[in-house]
Amino acid sequence: MAAPHPSATPPHDVVISESLPKPAISREPSGSGNPVPASHTRTQSNASVPHATKKTMVDHLRKYESLFTLTPQRMRIIVDSFVEVLEIGLKEFGQTVPMIPTYVFGWPTRMENGDFLALDLGGTNLRVCLVHLQGDGRFEITQTKYRLTEEQKQEDGMKLFDFCAECVANFVELHTGEGRGKIKEDEELALGFTFSYPVNQARIDHGELIRWTKGFGAPNTEGKDVAAMFRASMEKYPVLKNVKLTALINDTTGTLIASHYVNPRTKIAVILGTGCNAAYMETVENITKIAPLGIPGEQQMAINCEWGAFDSFQHYHLPRTPYDILVDEQSNKPGEQAFEKLISGRYLGEIFRLVLCELIDAGDLFLGQNTYKLEIPYSFDTAFLSLMESDPTDELLTVIGIFTHFHQIETTLAERQFFRALARLIGRRAARLSACGIAAIVSKCGYLEEGCSVGADGSLYNKYPGFADRIHEGLVDVFGDKGKRIVTHHAEDGSGVGSAIIAAMTKKRKADGLFVHV
Ligand code: GLC
Repeated sequence: MAAPHPSATPPHDVVISESLPKPAISREPSGSGNPVPASHTRTQSNASVPHATKKTMVDHLRKYESLFTLTPQRMRIIVDSFVEVLEIGLKEFGQTVPMIPTYVFGWPTRMENGDFLALDLGGTNLRVCLVHLQGDGRFEITQTKYRLTEEQKQEDGMKLFDFCAECVANFVELHTGEGRGKIKEDEELALGFTFSYPVNQARIDHGELIRWTKGFGAPNTEGKDVAAMFRASMEKYPVLKNVKLTALINDTTGTLIASHYVNPRTKIAVILGTGCNAAYMETVENITKIAPLGIPGEQQMAINCEWGAFDSFQHYHLPRTPYDILVDEQSNKPGEQAFEKLISGRYLGEIFRLVLCELIDAGDLFLGQNTYKLEIPYSFDTAFLSLMESDPTDELLTVIGIFTHFHQIETTLAERQFFRALARLIGRRAARLSACGIAAIVSKCGYLEEGCSVGADGSLYNKYPGFADRIHEGLVDVFGDKGKRIVTHHAEDGSGVGSAIIAAMTKKRKADGLFVHV
């Protein structure tokens, strides 16, 4: 296997859509067995279609407004059903929204300290970090990022974990030595593995992958214990003999703990990036499905909701447009992650592109131009939506740039205004649906009166203009003025720092003999 190359991306640099390159899929209905991108070339005869019969862009916009707008009333209905789904997930295993018990018991003391390794496998990049917790909410972090190729996401699971182990081994080799920021030779080093996919956990250092999400498809992994697979890969590297996989965590759980470490008002964490999900702290007596474990009812435990799966399969609760249905049908996991497919950065650009394709097919856009580039699935990145929304010029020069540079298409001002308005509709709906998810946890936990902070991370939240404001507006639409008491803030690095804190908490818990069986 080729040696892993640290990516050129500087640490902490977040890319708005972490989802390129994408698998080639077509706009044909799924099951056609022919994943060839549809090609679409306008001819002179098309160009002669009289323009007077075409609807104006403003007329089109009206239609999309009604499709993509979520009224406050509709949001409240979604929230009510969301709360029910969250509650069922705590009672029974095997639910669509699995409400995964994480065995992260309560909040950090903020006195956690020491050196920990963190491995972050979440979407686009693989990251290895050495985190030095200094106590009192302070820390230092040294990290290296490795870019994952689209092929690696689809090749055998064992190979993927071998690559992870190889990256950790390289990192450990590079950073072993004497002094600050160095890994000490011959000392055991606890590792927190942030594996940001749904896993069923019987204990904190175990996790059976329920299903891949976010476009991953590595065979021979679903249904298996990914912690055991990674341990087996680590054994292939003698330099890792002192590294102990202590905790397998989700990015949301890490974000919850890391955000609370620096801001103790944090009660909920959300990730709004390539995928979307949330975690919060629950009282064990409410997690009735784990009663046989005999953990005292008053104990606190973080729950990884995996709310991206809300409304999967049956599609009872969310208003889906024809474009959402196409995105779903043509994904590698039809029916799954229904909520995530309306919200996350992996899909928003594709929803936009499918609307444009509909207008191209109807002969209402780009007549006489070669549109094949726009016909390629996932060729319209979510970052473009974000750029269009923030274009400050009257002529919408950024929009011109996107279409000419990436798709070799000329646009009129009316079209560009339409594109920007369409981006706004799609982005706004994503933020308002995210608000519904947050509101559901707030309602379920009774946080509204007292208010709370929500630690939020991910490329959409961090980079999409106005995303946070739209979430806050959405919360007011659901709760009225009291919604202002729920405030999101940019979270601390959950997959690195959070993972290390959880490894520290777990190491201490086990040393203290507390719930050592989980
Ligand atoms: C997907 C994953 C989930 C993760 C989220 C954000 O929804 O299933 O585990 O937390 O993406 O990365």
